[in-house]
Amino acid sequence: MNEKTLYYITTPIYYVNASPHIGHTYTTIACDTMARYQRLSGKDVFFLTGTDEHGDKIVKAAEAMSKTVEEYTNEISQEFRTTWQKLNITNSDFIRTTEKRHQKVVQSILNAIYEKGDIYLSEYEGQYCTGCERYLTDKELTDEGLCPDHQKKPEIIKEENYFFKMQKYLPIWEEMLIKNEQLIRPDRYYKEVLGVIKELKSLGEDLSISRPKTRLSWGIELPFDKNYVTYVWFDALINYLSGIEFPEGEKYKNYWPVAKHMIAKDILKPHGVYWPAMLLAAGISVYNQLQIHGYWLGWGDMKMSKSLGNALEPVSLSEKIGEDSLRYFLMREMNFGSDSRFSEEVLIKRINQDLSNDLGNLLQRTLTMIKKYNEGKISPDAEKHPLTKEIDNLLKEKAKNYHLFFNEFQFHRALEEIFEITRKLNQIIEEKKPWEMAKQNPADLVPLLNTVLLGTLAALAYLRPVLPNKTKEIFDFLKPAFSKIFPEELEDISLSQIELESWPIYFPRF
Ligand code: ME8
Repeated sequence: MNEKTLYYITTPIYYVNASPHIGHTYTTIACDTMARYQRLSGKDVFFLTGTDEHGDKIVKAAEAMSKTVEEYTNEISQEFRTTWQKLNITNSDFIRTTEKRHQKVVQSILNAIYEKGDIYLSEYEGQYCTGCERYLTDKELTDEGLCPDHQKKPEIIKEENYFFKMQKYLPIWEEMLIKNEQLIRPDRYYKEVLGVIKELKSLGEDLSISRPKTRLSWGIELPFDKNYVTYVWFDALINYLSGIEFPEGEKYKNYWPVAKHMIAKDILKPHGVYWPAMLLAAGISVYNQLQIHGYWLGWGDMKMSKSLGNALEPVSLSEKIGEDSLRYFLMREMNFGSDSRFSEEVLIKRINQDLSNDLGNLLQRTLTMIKKYNEGKISPDAEKHPLTKEIDNLLKEKAKNYHLFFNEFQFHRALEEIFEITRKLNQIIEEKKPWEMAKQNPADLVPLLNTVLLGTLAALAYLRPVLPNKTKEIFDFLKPAFSKIFPEELEDISLSQIELESWPIYFPRF
């Protein structure tokens, strides 16, 4: 039997203090695109998302809405779930930190680390940002002493708490990173984490992992002291294990060794430092890879977020411009790793230029010419046009780069490769002028149109992870048969003998 290669990808679990916006949507769509790509490549994929529901921030948000925290978390968690359903996200499961299956795992990991002697009680005073749900160091604050992401002054909190001996594991993790830079990508974040580890080592501080119930009761009780609940990050990170039935389940055994986490740079420290240290302490192997992207910036060039009031709601946007257009824009416009500005102008420009002018126009004009010059008949058995070889070579080269970039999470570059194929095909039409061939060289016309159509279908095959709906609609209409999911030459696609009458404009202009 042919065993499928396994692939596990996760989004962060989002806080339920706010409704989903474009920022959350980006990460979720990027993971969905990757999950679809890996499935098309023949992998057995597990894709996890969910919601992070404990902590100060959630209690405050519920209070502000005059709701009980249970009512409030149920409502917003459901909103995330529904949003992803409406956007046809193909997650395999959805985990909530308020679920029993999660709480059980958190308590078992706490117990294991406690019994090992890596958790102790101590007093600490620090600058706590509720937005980030963590203590910030002086270096992390702006010149005005504000949290750069939330533009708020952190609170000074002094209390007795349990601490995790993170220091003990920092050198081990640092060593692992030095040996394998693939653990954290792109490179600038890998370097940033090495810097953070160095700083933490020099500060010599451990990680506070509890909150006294006298101050906060909304959390998972510490299994060894009922006066405390678990610090929300220690709780939340464990979702990546509880969501795959740690410690006994098949899923855990299969998928954990290949776990890839995707996050934005706001939560680099918990994922790049706390989480691996926790895993090492618990005797669990660390993740296979952490992938970090930048921010979508809203007006004011500030990180798009609910608290700054510059966030956009994804479902109505998707209904307005189309699900695939939204996916394409997000995947193509952001250079994975860097920040990107979101505005209506860039959105419309990108969709019109790439989807409507390049791809849409290519398909539209090819079908129109088949209708006009070959009585609407697609003729699968027509002779090959001499240009086939050139297109095959281009396709091979672009396909190779596409797979390379996809596996490096460089979505924008993978897409760019494919659009070079569509540009080439448009250029062929302009140079060969089929409308003149119809008069001067009709014997060559049908082979040329077939070749262009095959090339277009090949490009579309590679766009499936990003444009799942449009590619399906077009393939349902033209019924090509692919001998390879990702064709490497035009031979890998057979056309169906169909007669074209009318068809929709697949990629309309805005
Ligand atoms: O941090 N640009 O949850 P969160 C790009 N619960 N991505 C953005 C974004 C923006 N403007 N805004 C949000 C938490 N994101 C924790 C995570 S995981 C164990 C716990 C995306 O609701 C991006 O993925 O604040 C970012 O890392 C995440 O949402 C933060 O979501």
